[in-house]
Amino acid sequence: MREFDEKSITRAVIERLSECGDARFKSVMSSLVTHLHDFVREVQLTEAEWATAIQFLTDVGKTCTDQRQEFILLSDTLGVSVLVITLNHPADQGSAESTVLGPFYWEGAPDLPRGSNLAVGVKGEPTFYSGRVLSVDGRPLENALLDIWSGDGEGNYDMQIPGETGMKARGRIRTDGEGRYWFSSIRPTFYAVPTDGPVGRMLRKMGRHPYRPGHIHMIVSAAGYLPVTTHLFIAGSDYLDTDAVFGVKESLVAQFDRHAPGVGPGGERMDTPFYTVNYDFRLRPAAASGA
Ligand code: BEZ
Ligand code: FE
Repeated sequence: MREFDEKSITRAVIERLSECGDARFKSVMSSLVTHLHDFVREVQLTEAEWATAIQFLTDVGKTCTDQRQEFILLSDTLGVSVLVITLNHPADQGSAESTVLGPFYWEGAPDLPRGSNLAVGVKGEPTFYSGRVLSVDGRPLENALLDIWSGDGEGNYDMQIPGETGMKARGRIRTDGEGRYWFSSIRPTFYAVPTDGPVGRMLRKMGRHPYRPGHIHMIVSAAGYLPVTTHLFIAGSDYLDTDAVFGVKESLVAQFDRHAPGVGPGGERMDTPFYTVNYDFRLRPAAASGA
């Protein structure tokens, strides 16, 4: 057959995959074509809408640079990133839950001694972070690595601050013999994902806000264990219920306790109010996952 109607076109495209030698690719593409065609039929897509969609995707591509990945932002804001993460890191396996990496990770943050202040010169309320890195069966993991980054107390990452060229509010801290870590930084606030591109236009047209609740990012890793890319969210932060990228997991919402000026947990004099937060991360052995 060489002429197709609105039903037979789907089977025809899938049949053209008959020579495909990669079974997984064949299966994924067949399913993609099926769902894409079903979608077009279901919404009865007009030619004008299709042209708008193509222009939108073109704009998304043109907005990508070495510093900006608009396709990831599109995936994040449509919930696809979290869907893929949730499928691949089920919550029921005992490890700390994973969430989105986001666009502000910067490889090569400095290795700092435990107790360091990651946020020297960064705007925001001082916060002391502490806890342990453990295996899922509760054994402390020595020399586990926390690669940490956050925005400041006004919602800006270093990369977003005009004139700021160095790393700010970033650092790598390792655990001690009892799996403990501690460091200080600031208490990050909520902020908007980038809205000056096509994804921002899409969010506005959808009637959606662009905000993420306050959070600090970390990649937690240890030799022989599966690394976890995650956040700690600030309990009570605005937008916890409506994160623009759907990244909130209840298990990652942590209590940040406020203290009056006085003495910090390490005996330091604190002239302003400060916060403390304690959180343990559990990691799964790499062997158990087949990875
Ligand atoms: C972030 O948390 O840094 C982030 C994640 C997804 C999109 C934009 C920002
Ligand atoms: Fe973030």
